[in-house]
Amino acid sequence: MRTLTKPAAPQVTAGPLRTAKATARVADTTSAWSLRVARAMGAESAVDVLTRQHRQIRLGFLRAALPGPWRRRNFDRLMRLLAVHEAAEEAHVHPVARRALRHGRELAARRRDEEREAKQLLIALWRTGPDGAGYLRQLNEVRRAVSRHAAREEREEFKALRKAISPSRLRMLGAEVKLTQVYAPTRPHRWVNNEATNKLAAPVLGPVDRALDALQHHRAS
Ligand SMILES: [Fe+2]
Ligand SMILES: [Fe+2]
Repeated sequence: MRTLTKPAAPQVTAGPLRTAKATARVADTTSAWSLRVARAMGAESAVDVLTRQHRQIRLGFLRAALPGPWRRRNFDRLMRLLAVHEAAEEAHVHPVARRALRHGRELAARRRDEEREAKQLLIALWRTGPDGAGYLRQLNEVRRAVSRHAAREEREEFKALRKAISPSRLRMLGAEVKLTQVYAPTRPHRWVNNEATNKLAAPVLGPVDRALDALQHHRAS
């Protein structure tokens, strides 16, 4: 004869405890996934990636000033490097600095103002182009603004990020920087100058800019 057994009562777990455990599990999974991405992207700290690019940018200004048939190519390379570099900083690095650093808000706002100012000069230089009148003067103007800005980033922001953020988080940030630079716009755009516009516009403007670059390269060759 079958005996009827009372169904086991569902296990009761305290709501907040269960939520905390689930949150911790999600955080663990996310950070494990991010670490895997960071390793796949070369596991280089964002600060190291961006500092190296600052050196490349300084060298790029010197190359873009050289006369001769390579000027156009050097100019295009410099514009591309500046565009993807600033896009990654604006989308990922300054927002982290704003949230993680003491006085991060003011610091990130100052960097954004400098970037906006440099972008205006960069757009004017882009319009002039390497064959236009006043090219060297404008190039030098942009070089001075960008160099000042990069030096402040290294001195005020990058140094503080190294102290405030763990090496593994900085490597994750480095992976985000590198990933963003794969599809970021390659030309200066006036209104793309903060986290939201960079994250929203980059996937659209990036491919458009790259298609225009390919077309320009095809015409030149
Ligand atoms: Fe910057
Ligand atoms: Fe920078």
